Amino acid sequence: MSSRKILVTSALPYANAPLHLGHMLEQVQTDIWVRFQRSRGNHCQYVCADDAHGTAIMLSAEKQGVTPQAHIGNIKALHEADSAGFHISFDNYHSTHSPENKAWSETIFQRLEANDHIAVRSVVQAYDEVKGLFLADRFIKGTCPKCKTPDQYGDNCEACGATYSPTEVIDPISALSGSTPVEKASDHLFFKLSAFQELLADWVSGEQLQTPIANKLREWIDAGLQDWDISRDAPYFGFEIPGYPEKYFYVWLDAPIGYIASHQNLCARTGDDFESFWQPGNDTELYHFIGKDIINFHGLFWPAMLASAGLRQPTAIFAHGFLTVDGTKMSKSRGTFIMASTYLDHLDAEYLRYYFAAKLSPNVDDMDLNLEDFIQRVNSDLVGKVVNIASRCSGFLRKRFDNEISTTCSEPAFINELISAGDSIAALYETRDFQRAMREIIALADRANQYIDEKKPWVLAKEEGRDQDVQDACSVGINCFRVLMTYLKPVLPVMGQKSEEFLGLTLNWTDLQGPLEGHKINKFSPLIQRIDPEAVTAMVEASKH
Ligand code: MSP
Ligand code: ZN
Repeated sequence: MSSRKILVTSALPYANAPLHLGHMLEQVQTDIWVRFQRSRGNHCQYVCADDAHGTAIMLSAEKQGVTPQAHIGNIKALHEADSAGFHISFDNYHSTHSPENKAWSETIFQRLEANDHIAVRSVVQAYDEVKGLFLADRFIKGTCPKCKTPDQYGDNCEACGATYSPTEVIDPISALSGSTPVEKASDHLFFKLSAFQELLADWVSGEQLQTPIANKLREWIDAGLQDWDISRDAPYFGFEIPGYPEKYFYVWLDAPIGYIASHQNLCARTGDDFESFWQPGNDTELYHFIGKDIINFHGLFWPAMLASAGLRQPTAIFAHGFLTVDGTKMSKSRGTFIMASTYLDHLDAEYLRYYFAAKLSPNVDDMDLNLEDFIQRVNSDLVGKVVNIASRCSGFLRKRFDNEISTTCSEPAFINELISAGDSIAALYETRDFQRAMREIIALADRANQYIDEKKPWVLAKEEGRDQDVQDACSVGINCFRVLMTYLKPVLPVMGQKSEEFLGLTLNWTDLQGPLEGHKINKFSPLIQRIDPEAVTAMVEASKH
């Protein structure tokens, strides 16, 4: 089996706030898949970056009295710490405010322009004369034209749920300065998405997309594609458009280009072939993990931009649903809007990695973190079933057999059966059906525990002349543990590493050739503690402030 060359991305988090558990759902899902690929011997690189541009980031920097550069630098450090805390194994974490991204944004834009895929049109928009800024809809407030509730956003009413255009709002004001916006015209640059109707219709009929995502995109395509406004007027934190002074690339134009930029920055360090990776028609693979809220950017604009620029297409886009906590949208007042760092202050990252894995599937349904179920599932599966196998067997081996595994495995058929089960487990990982992969692994753990229950090494140990039987039974147990931890290591990298130290070997899928015989292991030390329900309560309390 020759090794695949794979590049994987998670969506680039906005550089305006630290990460919350919704972000971690995406990064953990991606990371498990990436670690699985590496365990299988594939060359799999994982890149990400902060999405650093746009009006919101410019304004929050201004509010804090720092430059946008300083602001995005601070947030990037927080993001990297959050991801590291959850053991996310990025090969590179870059920023869209980088020289590579500037160069690629300019290059791609110039290719679109050369291909006649850029149009210039005048657009009339609300303008704040005090701030000297064009106002996006969410920066306009006023009275709802339908139900007359005051102080509603420029595009929707929280009281009656109506949606409308900001020009319909009664007594509109700028949320930034409180002044009354005026209408002002300005030239905008548009990407002619309409020219890609056919290409995109083909793309959504291929294998690259999950069915509900393909259906949603097809709806948009069938309704007729609108050209996409890719410029914003100064002042804006971003890259100025070459040939158009005072016009800046809209943040969503340069954000996905950030994938290319981060990859280039990585390859400059590793010596991997960056240029050929992005050429169409080679045998490398490109996957984007994203939330279902941003499928239009990744499923329409991005493939069209890549095509116009003469670059390769993604092999597939993997969208996921949203995280809810205890059945509802994350909420600050209930203490369920949980920041990544708050979680890490109270709980081990691997608990949540396992829980996410136990619930993730290839579909795009939302996923609920039920805090009761979380405690129960982790304690019962990881501590009660998996770790239990090693802790029940290791003591006898250490005390009576100098940590030696039997020179001949007494149950080779049983161990080989666990190893063969790896094929179907691998197929489930490959298709991101982690939920079913975990179920199969835990079912194997049940069989291992059942075997130990039947052999009862603690009874044999008291009987005269049964030494070999004790060593054999415990050796089979340790063999089971080794196979199971190999399957779980993409989900539980730290527990995997501690298990490698305990077993004195590496736990890669490619290492599983048959039972371990005559092998010396090391002293067992606890691999993971039970979740203390009090820690969960404390985390929820801390999230209320
Ligand atoms: N900056 C853009 C992405 C640009 S990609 C070229 C963005 N940033 S974000 O910070 O809002 O979101 C980053 C990722 O986290 C997105 O894929 C988004 O769907 C995901 N999630 C944000 N909240 C989430 C949940 N509550 N649950 C699951 N994923 C969530 O969008
Ligand atoms: Zn209303």
